[in-house]
Amino acid sequence: MRHATIIGTGSYLPDNILTNDDMAKLVETSDEWIASRTGIKERRISKGEKTSDLAYEAARKALQNAKLDAKDLDLIICATITPDSFMPSVSCIVQERLGASKAAAFDLTAACTGLIYAMATASAFIESGMYQNILVIGAETLSKTLDWTDRSTCVLFGDGAGALVITASEQKKGIISVNLLSDGSKQEYLCLSAIPLSNPFVIKEDGIFQPTISMKGQEVFKFAVRSITDHIKTVLLKAAITAEDIKYIVTHQANYRIIEHAAKSSGIPLEKFFMNLDRYGNTSAATIGIALDEMVQKDMLQTGDRIILVGFGGGMTSGAILVEWN
Ligand code: ACO
Repeated sequence: MRHATIIGTGSYLPDNILTNDDMAKLVETSDEWIASRTGIKERRISKGEKTSDLAYEAARKALQNAKLDAKDLDLIICATITPDSFMPSVSCIVQERLGASKAAAFDLTAACTGLIYAMATASAFIESGMYQNILVIGAETLSKTLDWTDRSTCVLFGDGAGALVITASEQKKGIISVNLLSDGSKQEYLCLSAIPLSNPFVIKEDGIFQPTISMKGQEVFKFAVRSITDHIKTVLLKAAITAEDIKYIVTHQANYRIIEHAAKSSGIPLEKFFMNLDRYGNTSAATIGIALDEMVQKDMLQTGDRIILVGFGGGMTSGAILVEWN
């Protein structure tokens, strides 16, 4: 049987750092409030680079790390909720810039679970025998979707991109087990509007169109803790191994307290949970790719290490992937 295995990672963050003290100059907040409630100390905010620019840089580095020529890519999937445009997709823009001349390309929307959904999709394409080499990207410029006067949301998010090269292997390594879920009944927990319906048959509602993120923070918190705990259990069960066999767990980087609660409720030591949200905040579909690339750069992952990636986000969506490192 063919397996999907990760052979390269890359990430890219804009240079511009916005600390919690900088945030306190924009809205009524403090480093103490943000750090103690979320663990976030600073985030990166684009000064003009678009989502496709971040995606391209992360993708370029991932290909370099994988030692793979862009011309050998069969497919590019970009997970994002902040594309430059509805069309062309971010993945098509990246396909052209990389010179990935034989790759198909599409974007995928599963909010902060986007990279997990994209990896699962790539894995299915590879296992079916349809494709050999797939580039998966999570890229966001969330800064353009924030209400910068709303202190309850604008302090949480940042911009960035992470990318992975996934390829076919005959060895039983790489993506070992996958679990995806959605729950549309909780859709109001996290929302970001697109263009409202307006045409000769629909009278446009009064008011200014504000495509900004809204969130029921405490509901999201509970959903996230439950999702992490349940998904870890399920992917371990599917792979017929236990938490002791896992070296690291890389969850979506939203909030330190969410991860702390999830570690407690799943009975797994907090030290196994990798975190870098203090430096980047929540970059939605990009967090897990950025985290994985940092772990690779720091030489934290060796052949045979088993890790679990877990996402949760708007929709609501959630999912996990158990990976045996190549
Ligand atoms: N600075 C100072 N005070 C603030 C801030 C801020 N940045 N934000 C909110 N407050 C105030 C509120 O105005 C409120 O004041 P009041 O009591 O006078 O009305 C008080 O703090 C409490 O507000 P809550 O919204 O109830 O704060 P809560 O304790 O729930 O903490 C938080 C908010 C940190 C967002 C929490 O709900 C949480 O961690 N939720 C998880 C959601 C999350 O992490 N979302 C990330 C995006 S979602 C995703 O990635 C899937």
